[in-house]
Amino acid sequence: MPTATAVVNLDLEGPRISRHLYGHFAEHLGRCVYGGFWVGEDSPIPNAGGIRLDVVEALRALDIPNLRWPGGCFADEYHWKDGIGPREQRPRMVNTHWGDVEENNHFGTHEFMVLCELLGAEPYISGNVGSGTVREMSEWVEYLTRDGDSPMARLRRANGREEPWRVRFWGIGNETWGCGGNMRAEYSADLARQYATYCRDHGDNTLYRIASGARDDDYKWTETLMQQISCFGCEATPRTFFQGVSVHYYTLGGPWEAKGSATGFGTEDYYRTMVSARRIDRILTGHSTVMDVYDPGRKVGLVLDEWGTWWDVEPGTHPGFLFQQNTLRDALVASTHFDIFHKHAARLAMANIAQTVNVLQAMLLTDGDALVTTPTYHVFEMNKGHQDATSLTVHLRAPGARRRVGDAELETLSASASVKDGTVLFSLTNLDAEESAEITLDLRGGGIGEPVARLLTADRLQAHNTPQAPCQVAPRPFDALKAVDGGLVLTLPPHSFVTVRAPLASR
Ligand code: AHR
Repeated sequence: MPTATAVVNLDLEGPRISRHLYGHFAEHLGRCVYGGFWVGEDSPIPNAGGIRLDVVEALRALDIPNLRWPGGCFADEYHWKDGIGPREQRPRMVNTHWGDVEENNHFGTHEFMVLCELLGAEPYISGNVGSGTVREMSEWVEYLTRDGDSPMARLRRANGREEPWRVRFWGIGNETWGCGGNMRAEYSADLARQYATYCRDHGDNTLYRIASGARDDDYKWTETLMQQISCFGCEATPRTFFQGVSVHYYTLGGPWEAKGSATGFGTEDYYRTMVSARRIDRILTGHSTVMDVYDPGRKVGLVLDEWGTWWDVEPGTHPGFLFQQNTLRDALVASTHFDIFHKHAARLAMANIAQTVNVLQAMLLTDGDALVTTPTYHVFEMNKGHQDATSLTVHLRAPGARRRVGDAELETLSASASVKDGTVLFSLTNLDAEESAEITLDLRGGGIGEPVARLLTADRLQAHNTPQAPCQVAPRPFDALKAVDGGLVLTLPPHSFVTVRAPLASR
């Protein structure tokens, strides 16, 4: 059994972990919005004005900080004025990206804002740059956020909402290098400046504009954007043109054409997936390094607004709907990502897993009136104490915890820690498929009181939850830990995720 030591200085506080690293994403794609969040007022499924209440209740338990909408690729063919006013009179469109199905626009701006209110989450709206206009996005900002008398504020009131909403986060396009317009970086950067100019701060609603950024390790794209951040026309309120730059990275277990099954995979596939998941560390480092050159004061945030696993769709489901099951493997991809996110907390301002319900690495799967929480959901729940906490660096010494995977070497232990309100939270992942690992938490600069630990694992990597067997992968109390002088010793089972919470105490 590999042994490892994790040294944590409890009195050396690192950067704050923004709660927005635990953000979410809901696109008009497959059954994410329709059937996932939205069932309509006439549905026998309990709902509030059309929004599924079981989904809201499950997500509230995660303290989800923000929700990105309406896309994704869909955002760049969405025209927001089609989604306001009486539902039956809303124009229809074809969702050409996702399944070529008709979109009735019943879930639009007001429905989204009500959903965010029910969830207690901040809205993050992705605007249409690919097929929209500057005026269209500018008016959407005005419609949502302007108080007083103005054309768009009047239109909002005519549609039943008196007060403006607060909407800070605005995406200026999505994947402009691909589905969002197939642009060159230079052209996209110019458009980001132009759109950012006309997305106005109305009253005290100060916008956080997020320029559509790179895919994977395209650092050149980030550099091109960062060269354009200085806003010379903003002397009155000095700021950068955009406050965030996005990047997208998906974890695959193989090549794009052969992503493989979400549940039918072997141990080698599993390890390959984990190598792919851990690549996010290098990618975030690469983009942050480029950003440091142009923005050493770290005013501009890196926004990973799409991440997660991408498998073949479940057999028998629509290929354009991206519906996949979610196993213990997905949960460990998520727990590893969070450790890496915490490490990058100084630059990483937001991260949004794709996608919340019924699409890709979802929190929740619905089937008619049934609702299932996925293994990934449980990682978000077990880790929620890191939101807005102060990060603590974990110095991990684990020479024996490695696996050779093709040309790569996979570190099989991952950890992070934070402190908030006098409570320390440790997250520990053992990626090894067969072996347990003994890890000593060597705590310095303070002590801890009685720890409470939880474990997420299952007998098989492929274990997952279904309406018939909803708790195959669910957290349970963990007691394979003992207090030693100056810390804790834990034995992590193979393929497991453990959290430990404890009050800070003086030694
Ligand atoms: O999340 C699914 C799709 O992946 C999004 O629409 C797009 O932005 C990305 O390519």
